[in-house]
Amino acid sequence: MIAGVVLAGGIGVRMKSSFPKLFHKLLGKPIISYVLDNLSKLNLDKTILVIPPTLEDKFREIGGDKIVYVIQEKPLGTGDALRKAMPELEGMDVVLVVNGDAPLITDDIFENLIASHRDDVSAVILSTVLDDPMHYGRVIKDEKGNVIRIVEAKDAGPEEKEIKEVNTGAYCFSVRDLKVAIDMLDNNNAQGEYYITQLVEILNRMGKRVISYQTDLGSLALGINSRLDLALATKRLLEQKLEELMNDGVTIVSPENTYIEPDVKIGRDTIVEPFCVLKGNTLIGEKCTIGPSTYLLNAEIGDECEIFYSVIKNSRIESNVRVGPFAHIRDGAHIKSNSAIGDFVEVKKSVIGSNTKALHLAYLGDAEIGERVNIGAGTITCNYDGKTKHKTIIEDEAFIGSNTCLRAPIRVGRGAITGAGSVVLKDVEPGSTVAGVPARPIERKAKEEGGKSE
Ligand code: UD1
Ligand code: CA
Repeated sequence: MIAGVVLAGGIGVRMKSSFPKLFHKLLGKPIISYVLDNLSKLNLDKTILVIPPTLEDKFREIGGDKIVYVIQEKPLGTGDALRKAMPELEGMDVVLVVNGDAPLITDDIFENLIASHRDDVSAVILSTVLDDPMHYGRVIKDEKGNVIRIVEAKDAGPEEKEIKEVNTGAYCFSVRDLKVAIDMLDNNNAQGEYYITQLVEILNRMGKRVISYQTDLGSLALGINSRLDLALATKRLLEQKLEELMNDGVTIVSPENTYIEPDVKIGRDTIVEPFCVLKGNTLIGEKCTIGPSTYLLNAEIGDECEIFYSVIKNSRIESNVRVGPFAHIRDGAHIKSNSAIGDFVEVKKSVIGSNTKALHLAYLGDAEIGERVNIGAGTITCNYDGKTKHKTIIEDEAFIGSNTCLRAPIRVGRGAITGAGSVVLKDVEPGSTVAGVPARPIERKAKEEGGKSE
């Protein structure tokens, strides 16, 4: 039986932040969620997360109920954190221990680490080689290549400091030996902490063998301790995401100027122009052109759409829709196929029917707009009376003249027309024309009605 323990009980002072390090976002998701996701791919028999007492709810929100949460009352060090998890390791043979701040160590690497934990080995350290080993723990080996100690940078002598193989903070222990060794930890070191890394020396004293498994990830395998580390990890994950999308048939015109979060999905032959920011659960169909300079958050976009210099949040756009430049579509808006939302048009929580056009300078909020409707420049749905929001209904084939104000709640009937500049306070009958301030029904000119007047 194999368990995983994630150490997340520390505070992360080097971030210089008012909130805990592991909740800082990396491409839109908290750092800790990457570590938990990577571990969840390993089919472990049990996953244990060591956390500080005040943050249980926040960690549970991210980790869910499949994880066992263990509280570390005070951040006395990584060794103390693991000690707190020991009661949960009853019945386990092997334990994978991982720092909660290492989001880039993938499931493949963990698998290899676990695989190198053989019968004659008590523990395996995941290490990597750095040109500049900085503040990381140095891996000290004997002439046979076994690991005899890990020395923290703050405790290392000048010769030890020269060692370039460093501890990544991921380990695989045999639980039987660990149970004995963990009680021998002390805090006689430069930081006065219980170091998990002291276990290596203790296991050696017990006559056990410790080895290292090296990953070539380099500095990326190491924890995120600062804002700079966060930026470097973001860069790496972003490059991976863009490469994946390109491999799947998406054109990214300027990868160095494109931000796409890991859960975004994009169909084939879609082109992402420079300066796009695509976030959350955005889903884009095939053969679209997105951007330049477009921001999409949880947007669902159909096939063959053109979204040009625009912002779309939590909304759905069907196929063959043109948006922008400078449109803002938000809060559950739904734009049906073959429509167009043009320059400086804001659409909030509204349904726009197929083949409808709102091409210039409009606000459409809490509206239900039918098919083949023309929304003139400057149309405003006056949805808010200072207390509540009200609905505007515009039926199929209506024609809303430029600068019309529609005071909601209101309904404009099928095929009705509002004159330019009208302020419409009452429902408009299907097929009728209203104009003026306030708008009143007027007779349509005989010519427009094909010779007949109503
Ligand atoms: C640790 C290792 C170091 C290694 C480096 C790799 C130790 C003593 N040192 O150093 O050898 O090179 O990781 O990134 O382990 N945590 C707790 N409780 C605590 C303290 C920390 O759960 O009391 C958690 C933190 O939340 C964090 C992880 O353990 O996720 C690592 O702690 P951190 O303080 O970042 O260790 P490093 O100094 O980076
Ligand atoms: Ca760290």
